[in-house]
Amino acid sequence: MSNGFTLWFTGLSGAGKTTIAELVGPELERRGLKVEYLDGDVVRTHLSKGLGFSKEDRDTNIERIGWVASRLSRHGAAVLVSAISPYEETRRKARAMVAEHGTFVEVFVATSVDECARRDVKGLYEKAFSGEIKEFTGVSDPYEEPAEPELRIDTEEHEPAESAEIVLGKLDALGLIPSQVTA
Ligand code: ADX
Repeated sequence: MSNGFTLWFTGLSGAGKTTIAELVGPELERRGLKVEYLDGDVVRTHLSKGLGFSKEDRDTNIERIGWVASRLSRHGAAVLVSAISPYEETRRKARAMVAEHGTFVEVFVATSVDECARRDVKGLYEKAFSGEIKEFTGVSDPYEEPAEPELRIDTEEHEPAESAEIVLGKLDALGLIPSQVTA
């Protein structure tokens, strides 16, 4: 069995990481791949339960996700990670872990703080601006933009379905997915 890959969506809370991942995943399944999702919000209810949002805790969370993604990649899976993963060095560690067993594709879901706050799907930005939530990424905590992601998607220019198409096109170009639907 050939090695798998990890699609690592990074970006602010509410940028659209999960939305895009949930459009890409089913299409990968239609093409015959085994898909697994590692979503920050979900991982934090299980594997990373109890962790907060200090730099140390975020790094621990991301290293755990990177480790699991690496193990799954070893078995040919397509792993879709959606996590803010705000620190470049920690993303690099995740990349190194995955690269031992598969291909790491970093997708920077680029959405400005203003746009995320305008959408405010979870109502968290309002609380972050009022100070009710501290250490909130992009407001009162850092987000280090990826210097050289495999892909950058500006969600203010593309609808989610278009963004998913862009990701699939990149995976095709990298030779990571069969282009024909398998029966
Ligand atoms: S990461 O920094 O460790 O990569 P992760 O993606 O797992 O973050 O979790 C981010 C989610 O936690 C956000 O989408 C949001 O729902 C929630 N959250 C709660 N508090 C914070 C905070 N202070 N900063 C960012 N996200 C927060």
